[in-house]
Amino acid sequence: MPDKDERDDEAESEDEDEDMEADFLKHAASMKVSKTRTSVSAEAYGQWNQKQAFEAPVFPKSREQLDQLRDILSRSFLFSALGDQEFEVVLMALEQKAYGPGESVILEGDDGDCLYIVEQGTLVCLKLIDGENKPVKTCQRGDIFGELALLYNCPRAASVVSQDASLCWRLDREPFNHIVKEAAAARRSRYEGFLKSVELLSSMGDYERSQVADALKNETFQCGDVIVKQDETGDRFYIVEEGTLSASINGEHMMDYGVGDYFGELSLLEHQPRAASVVVVSPSAKLVSLGQTSFNNMLGPLQALLTQRGKAYRTSVTSQSLNCP
Ligand code: CMP
Ligand code: CMP
Repeated sequence: MPDKDERDDEAESEDEDEDMEADFLKHAASMKVSKTRTSVSAEAYGQWNQKQAFEAPVFPKSREQLDQLRDILSRSFLFSALGDQEFEVVLMALEQKAYGPGESVILEGDDGDCLYIVEQGTLVCLKLIDGENKPVKTCQRGDIFGELALLYNCPRAASVVSQDASLCWRLDREPFNHIVKEAAAARRSRYEGFLKSVELLSSMGDYERSQVADALKNETFQCGDVIVKQDETGDRFYIVEEGTLSASINGEHMMDYGVGDYFGELSLLEHQPRAASVVVVSPSAKLVSLGQTSFNNMLGPLQALLTQRGKAYRTSVTSQSLNCP
């Protein structure tokens, strides 16, 4: 007969199992799932799966895991276009994987059958350059890797190695193709095309540009809307996708911005209040923007270029010489 501690442990683990089961069943019910506990009939989930019947795998998760995953996934470009039901199906289709220090997760050149979302730990992406494996990116909580092979049906473009003990969530090619791929690929290609035309970003590699595309927030504004206000704290960097805007300092016109131009970099670079106000002057304007963290991480390599223009503001006396970028 088990002693008291063992019984307590068993009771606790049974409680946890019941908790997980209750969570899962609640989930399944809310998704109008069939009686089986091992798969969800995704046909029930609306128009996104009209093409063919598809059984998404279901990996039961605790309430805590579901909450954490919802938080991580909702910040990611790949999943941001999903409807609520699609999002829940993807959530349940994720399988947790643990890796030890130095363990290989992806090998460059291999066929890819899944992508990963990092929950915990650090993983390094390495590319074979001049016969040497060189680190090209470090992935941490919330980062996604392994998406290229799925999005573009190509071999793995880099190797990925776990630097320490890490926890990742794995999404297989099948649910990815059925639920996520189309919208994610469309979003990426739309912004990649536009970003290629932005002179500031022309020195970036394709992968780095695709990371910028993923992090962009897009918004539409109307004539007269003030996008940044002089003396306020800055937290976003803007690129003009459509329309015309005008910058002024103390009411004096400084310069105009058109498609592909950028502004709002100065306060993020120098941690100073906004140096000017920028207002929409065309009937409407579409802008894409990056928050401070993405700006630091992704445009860090362009710091020299960006700072150069900052210096030009200070030395210039007329708005004419400040044609941007
Ligand atoms: P994938 O090609 O499927 O597998 C390797 C992954 O490494 C790749 O997807 C990207 O998610 C990631 N990666 C990180 N940095 C780079 C880079 N510079 N070029 C290509 N892939 C990269
Ligand atoms: P930031 O200070 O973040 O916000 C206002 C933006 O206006 C600034 O970044 C620049 O991108 C832009 N700007 C345009 N003209 C000037 C100027 N003469 N001096 C400073 N910033 C300017």
